[in-house]
Formats: sequence, structure tokens, C-alpha cells
Amino acid sequence: MRRHLLEAADLDRDDATLVLDTAAQIDQALAGREVKKLPTLRGRTVVNLFYEDSTRTRISFELAAKRLSADVINFSAKGSSVSKGESLKDTALTLEAMGADAVVVRHSASGAPHRLAHWVRGSVVNAGDGTHEHPTQALLDAYTIRQRLGRLDGVRVAVVGDVLHSRVARSNVGLLHTLGAEVTLVAPPTLLPVGVGSWPAEVSYDLDAVLPKSDVVMMLRVQAERMNASFFPSAREYSRRYGLDAARMAALPDDAIVMHPGPMNRGMEIAAEVADSVRSTIVEQVANGVSTRMAVLYLLLGGNA
Ligand code: NCD
Repeated sequence: MRRHLLEAADLDRDDATLVLDTAAQIDQALAGREVKKLPTLRGRTVVNLFYEDSTRTRISFELAAKRLSADVINFSAKGSSVSKGESLKDTALTLEAMGADAVVVRHSASGAPHRLAHWVRGSVVNAGDGTHEHPTQALLDAYTIRQRLGRLDGVRVAVVGDVLHSRVARSNVGLLHTLGAEVTLVAPPTLLPVGVGSWPAEVSYDLDAVLPKSDVVMMLRVQAERMNASFFPSAREYSRRYGLDAARMAALPDDAIVMHPGPMNRGMEIAAEVADSVRSTIVEQVANGVSTRMAVLYLLLGGNA
């Protein structure tokens, strides 16, 4: 493993498989235990540096570090010197002076974790940067697919919706390709990024044509907060063409699963009855996020080093 986890491309097939296998071992070690804690990272310090809103990713990283017995510092831009205009670099130097072994960073600017990696000695983990990447989300998604379907090689995954603004889509396309899955992006042309033709994925505008050929359908949130223009005529029209409702779900093969990274716009990209159905892995994804992030922190920090 490299020292940092900044994007899916930092993991080759062996690294990615090692993370998934380690997460599985952690799950096994903790299953049925009353005290869900391992002593592995005792005395190490993990800083969660969140410049952008987050619920599950932040809590998930905090829990992961705590379950490995690390000391955890949660830093959010609100209420810190960032609101006084302190730069990312000065914040990084402060963390460095305090001896952070790992910095988990979420930032609205694509590339911020890469910059940070030049300024700190510890490991940097990207917890989502702008519209760029979110590699631990891709790892927990791969873990969930493998757990449900038993494999990743040759699995057909449809990634549906607001690909343009989605760091989840970018990281998933990269990692799933590395792990041998076949990805099809499904979106209106306005919600596909320039250059998508060079991604290792097929592209389709027709959800109904893709569903019967999918083992996994991964719905993306429509990211209204990143939209400064109109990308589709109306919410209703978007739902009609690209939303996953019960009728569409019925077109999936029998053992296909439905994923969503959260937070969901229920009724927009995904109907409530689909989100709450037995095919949905949404709650499992959250649980798997903790063990996957434990595996990442453990492997980056070298455990007992
Ligand atoms: C995603 C994110 O923040 O990129 N959520 C997450 O991390 N679980 C996806 C989103 O915001 O839609």
C-alpha cells in the first residue's frame, strides 16, 4: 500500500483486495463481541478534517479510528480558525506540529487532499474532495457487492444519475474496473462529464435498457447544491426517466441488488419502497463503511508500527 489514499487509482488489484480481505477479517474478529474494539492503533492520532458537510462518512471514520483504539480529533471548519480565514496549509502545519499520524480530509475543492499530502508527514485519506474522488466509499461499495454476490469479477454494475457531480461515481468506476467488474454509466447527457468516453465504462442514456442486464444498480444523489444551472427540465421529469421505482426494480435479474451512498432524495432518484426493499443494501453499506475504513487506517498506519 502507498502512504496515502487519495484516489481509487492509488490501489492496484492486490491492494484493493487486501483492504477488502482485511475488512472481512475485522468483521469476523468483532462479530458477536460485546466490546467492539481492537488495540491495534493505541497511541496513534487520527485527525478528521472536515471542511464540507458530512454525516455518515465523518461518523464512520470517527468510529473506525476509535474501534482501533486511536486517539481521534474531530476538526470541522465551522467553529475553527478556518472561519477566521486560516489557509489549508496553515491548518496542515498546525496538525503536523501536533503529531497527527493520519489526516482524514473532506473538502469542497477537488485536489485539496493531494495538496495536503505534500505538507504533512502522516498519511492522508481522502474522504471526498469536490466532484473528484471518494475512494473509501468505493471500497465499502465493493465490499458490499462482494458480500452480497460473492464476487466482483464480471459483475455488471449500473451507476445511475448525477455522474457529473459525483465523486462516488468517479471512484467507483476506477475501483470496480480494477477489480474486474463491468460498469455502465446511465445518465442524461447533461449530467455526464466531459471526457467520460475515456473512462473504463460504457455509457447509456436509457435506464430501462440497462436494468435487465445489471447485477448491481447504484443510484446517485442528484447534487442540487453543486448545480449552478438547470441540468434537467424538472424533478418530475428526472424521476420519470432516471428514477428507480418499484416497476423498474422488477426489471432487474432476481438476485440483483440496489445501492445508494446516501444521503438519498427519496422520491427523486429512488422511491422509498425501493430504498426500503430487501434488494437494498443501503444500511449494509453504512455498516460496512466502518470495517472498511478500519482496514484502511490499519493498513496505512502499519498497525503496530
Ligand atoms: C456522498 C458524498 O458525500 O460524496 N455521500 C457519502 O459520502 N456517503 C454522496 C453524496 O453526497 O451524494
